[in-house]
Amino acid sequence: MELVLSKWVFAFSLTWWATFSGAYSVEGLRGGSKVRGVNLGGWLVVEGWIKPSLFDGILNGDMLDGTEVQFKSVTLQKYVCAENGGGTGVAVNRDAASSWETFKLWRVSASEFQFRTSQGQFLTCEGEGCSISATANTSSAGKLFYIERNSNNRVHVKLTSGAYLQATIGNQLTADYPGKPGWDDNAATFEMTIVVNNLHGDYQLANGYGHSKAKEILKKHRNSFVTMEDFKFLYRHGINAVRIPVGWWIAFDPNPPAPYVGGSLEALDNAFSWAQAYNIKCIIDLHAAPGSQNGMEHSSSRDGTTGWPTSPDYISQTLDVIDFLASRYARHPALLGIELLNEPSAASVPLEVLVPYYKQGYQIVRKYSSTAYVIICQRIGNADPLELYQANIGSNNIVVDLHYYNLFDTFFVNMSSEDNIQYVYKSREAQLQALSSANGPLAFIGEWVNEWNVTNGSQKDYQNFGRAQLEVYGAASFGWAYWTLKNDRKHWDFEWNIRNNYLQFGNSPAKQIFNNVVLLGLSLLSSFCILYYSGHHKSCICWPSVKYPRKSKTKNPKYEIGRLVNPMNSPTIVNGIAIPMAEITTVEQSTCREATS
Ligand SMILES: *[C@@H]1O[C@H](CO)[C@@H](O)[C@H](O)[C@H]1NC(C)=O
Ligand SMILES: *[C@@H]1O[C@H](CO)[C@@H](O)[C@H](O)[C@H]1NC(C)=O
Ligand SMILES: *[C@@H]1O[C@H](CO)[C@@H](O)[C@H](O)[C@H]1NC(C)=O
Ligand SMILES: *[C@@H]1O[C@H](CO)[C@@H](O)[C@H](O)[C@H]1NC(C)=O
Repeated sequence: MELVLSKWVFAFSLTWWATFSGAYSVEGLRGGSKVRGVNLGGWLVVEGWIKPSLFDGILNGDMLDGTEVQFKSVTLQKYVCAENGGGTGVAVNRDAASSWETFKLWRVSASEFQFRTSQGQFLTCEGEGCSISATANTSSAGKLFYIERNSNNRVHVKLTSGAYLQATIGNQLTADYPGKPGWDDNAATFEMTIVVNNLHGDYQLANGYGHSKAKEILKKHRNSFVTMEDFKFLYRHGINAVRIPVGWWIAFDPNPPAPYVGGSLEALDNAFSWAQAYNIKCIIDLHAAPGSQNGMEHSSSRDGTTGWPTSPDYISQTLDVIDFLASRYARHPALLGIELLNEPSAASVPLEVLVPYYKQGYQIVRKYSSTAYVIICQRIGNADPLELYQANIGSNNIVVDLHYYNLFDTFFVNMSSEDNIQYVYKSREAQLQALSSANGPLAFIGEWVNEWNVTNGSQKDYQNFGRAQLEVYGAASFGWAYWTLKNDRKHWDFEWNIRNNYLQFGNSPAKQIFNNVVLLGLSLLSSFCILYYSGHHKSCICWPSVKYPRKSKTKNPKYEIGRLVNPMNSPTIVNGIAIPMAEITTVEQSTCREATS
């Protein structure tokens, strides 16, 4: 009877306490209820803007895959143009340059390239005098061109045969310039303009350096950019999860298809071990799918195109990657969830393609785990996240990931700091409320940052913006993850924000422990009093014996690497979410004294 009653008091107290400190909903997390996560961006999926120095050693590093170039004949003063954007002839007859006059580079070496038109064809050379046309539908049908650069943007272009291209009087482009041209104004000399050079992903890095050098660079990067020390830092600051972007080639480790470089799987294994040591959970996020789901460097697009939705092969390969990841990590105690695809583009990925993919991905994860969260990402661009709430992807532990940046849209340009904060409180909060009342998947703000379009915001401005975001995104039912752990741009760098006090998590850990102990004590006391005065003659007070959370024992020795026995000497308790469930459960084992009336 006493024991039953003591459990009853305990349960009652817990309810009270949970009411005070925020209801919990996400299974298996330290620090209670929701994900307070950080992304490990730019680590296993390279993003040049996060760490530009990775690209420093590449020869002709401004001519990587996907770089967009235009050519102007110095004699005709006209641009080279693929008529209709490709599929037919090429002329040297345009006064101004736009998309038809722009060619994407496919890099073969520092000086050898293929040229791709805006409609996707490759330049080739056919017929008499070898006239350049844009009629090759595949890269293998296209020609290889050597580019020789002079200092003042002037270039010569030649074929493997040694023949130089020239702009003829009749505005054709032919590979029949007699002999070797000089750098004076002649028909074989062109001015090359680099118009867009914004892709710096794994493809560009590996293909830019070549395999052996890329292997060396990536090995160093993967071993140093994120380490166990970072997990310790996250643990100390109340972070309970990491979202880890990975690329599809991880499934082919250690020998992924060229130009990708193996080794990211070993690094992911390390992350799981470190996470386990610090009681942090991992979300594996498929950031780059074969063919690219959004044309950006972080989906490892080769040239800015979005091939993923156009080929059933790409989609089935992607499902194989999910199968690989789920089978490998489903039983790992540090796994929280698997995100099936990051940021598919609304412009290129139709819902009719995405929804069946998500449904199949959900089933695959469920083959290996009945509890791992399956996370589906909203489409970026012009798409309403409600579309995924209505899509019926799966029934259990499903989460929709939304990315909230007050950036990347002219809408945010010229907004004041106060405008930004109001936007978070009004629009973001309203959307989150609408989604939670949709009664479907959990909501996750899987990417956000303490940065905006405000120039020269003060530290106080940033603190206020950060606080508003933490408050509003903290209401998301699954939680949030900051983008990103480390970044060359300091305001994007989580560690910089914390160390420099630009992002404040409210109370200091010591004060939070105090607050939470007081809160727990109060709720225990009050529930005891209620029971006591509601007519029970016998009751029980439970004294919580506060213990540190036990590390769950792993059975798989593979995951023992780098594990710590006792990483920290105190539990981290986070603002408003409080004492880890592991500690609360120790109450049941605690000493129980009878109180009689
Ligand atoms: C390239 O594709 C187009 C459109 O499908 C087709 O009409 C054309 O014949 C193809 N060209 C070659 C050389 O195969
Ligand atoms: C931002 O302000 C500048 C200067 O007042 C103005 O020229 C520009 O058009 C504004 N941009 C937007 C997107 O409102
Ligand atoms: C704000 O946005 C404009 C236009 O996109 C961009 O040029 C500028 O660099 C941005 N400023 C900041 C501080 O992000
Ligand atoms: C922002 O700060 C920089 C460096 O302190 C300064 O050069 C610039 O003029 C400032 N811009 C504005 C809009 O205040």
